[in-house]
Amino acid sequence: MKKATMHFDKYLAVGQVDKRIFGSFVEHLGRCVYEGIYQPGQETADEAGIRQDVLKLIRDLEVPIVRYPGGNFVSGFHWEDSVGPKELRPRRIDPAWMVIETNEFGLHEFMDWTKKANTEPMMAVNLGTRGIEDAKNLVEYCNVPGGSYYSDLRKKNGAEDPFHIKLWCLGNEMDGPWQMGHKTAEEYGRLAAETGRMMKWVDPSIELVACGSSFSSIPTFASWESTVLDLSYDTTDYISMHQYYNNFEDNTADFLASNNDMDRFIRQVISTCDFVKAKKKSKKSINISFDEWNVWYHSSEQDKKIPKWSVHPHQLEDVYNFEDLLLVGSMLITLLNHSDRVKIACLAQLVNVIAPIMTSDKSAWKQTIYYPYLYASTLGRGTVLLNRTEVETYESKYGDAPYVDNTIVMNEEARTLTIFAVNKHFTEDIEFTADLRQFEGITPGQHIELHHEDFKIANTEEDPDAVKPSFKQDITVEGGKLSVPLKHKSFNVITLNY
Ligand code: AHR
Repeated sequence: MKKATMHFDKYLAVGQVDKRIFGSFVEHLGRCVYEGIYQPGQETADEAGIRQDVLKLIRDLEVPIVRYPGGNFVSGFHWEDSVGPKELRPRRIDPAWMVIETNEFGLHEFMDWTKKANTEPMMAVNLGTRGIEDAKNLVEYCNVPGGSYYSDLRKKNGAEDPFHIKLWCLGNEMDGPWQMGHKTAEEYGRLAAETGRMMKWVDPSIELVACGSSFSSIPTFASWESTVLDLSYDTTDYISMHQYYNNFEDNTADFLASNNDMDRFIRQVISTCDFVKAKKKSKKSINISFDEWNVWYHSSEQDKKIPKWSVHPHQLEDVYNFEDLLLVGSMLITLLNHSDRVKIACLAQLVNVIAPIMTSDKSAWKQTIYYPYLYASTLGRGTVLLNRTEVETYESKYGDAPYVDNTIVMNEEARTLTIFAVNKHFTEDIEFTADLRQFEGITPGQHIELHHEDFKIANTEEDPDAVKPSFKQDITVEGGKLSVPLKHKSFNVITLNY
């Protein structure tokens, strides 16, 4: 059997996992909100229209933050449309996605939902068609206790206590020519700085994410980051990264190596942040909010057929297969291995729209990518240890790719080690080994495996368990040496107790 040997040291940490890297994203887009999290009258919906079947799947994921309300949508959004009596809220066109937004579900409904979902909001402001004044008003509406126009309006609309929203995005993908109110780096950098300054005057406790590049191959990367940070360094806390991968070429080996590119992208953004830090002789470091990441391409042909100005149509409804599960697993491993600088990340999105959860009027089910997200979020909390793995590589369009991607998380409170490992080999199982002698008395925990021979198999409403985890009893620890078989084409979670 081929071998992968991991070397690590319990005293050498990459960093503490910030739980916010297991965040997600709810955009007013397609059926993410409507028919996704919210569907009044649906058989599981509560009195507020929140679907309990979907809520259960979300709560199981332990999603710590949810970015809202967009996305491209936010760049034309008037947040005032989404508060107050529902019957008075306007129906608006959304030119980002060429649909109608009814505003039936708005800010208060979202904040109530976050409580039910055990999560926290990550709110985006519109820096496309709007600016400083509206962003300031929104922070006042959400976070000022009372005694001013907007804070009193919030109370009048039913929320006596402030929402205390801590994390804010300064617009969305402002580098992208597709964005409403698209800007140059100079225009956006100045606007982000001035908007951020004003927002922090209203509430100094908030944290701000400035827009980085929309994807790594956009021509303005990384001069965009450099200019934006140069102009907004004092007020900005995080720079965003967005990246989606596809397998349009139907080359699974290349596709599974996409996280090599994600790793390179993260390293280059860190270098750019640190370049600006050096230039400014600043003590402050800018960290990363990777607030949109996923596989996205399956739905592209379908989306071209949607009539203009539809009301929450089936948009971006990618049906994920088994190879997507493997790449999402590898992307999570890459994020964890950068836990020193990646402090926030959002799997885009949460329900129906390029999402781990799908719904029909009757049921809700787990897409394949639900599983790596579930296990990383629930078992990947603690300290990521520096690790290097000796393993064969293969050539890919993203350079040499290891057959095994892995990371190791030590949780000192629970006294556990959790290893996440993906075996990308098409045919060969690989024996994964590591020296565990630093952990006296360590014993095997569980081995959760997701394996399938068919890369293209997907979970559907009719067959929701086509891909599901197996629970194995095949971890051995002998003489302080870990050995566990990683099946070809598999995502693995290996836990140990010490
Ligand atoms: O997540 C879907 C879209 O992808 C978002 O609206 C946008 O920010 C990105 O281009």
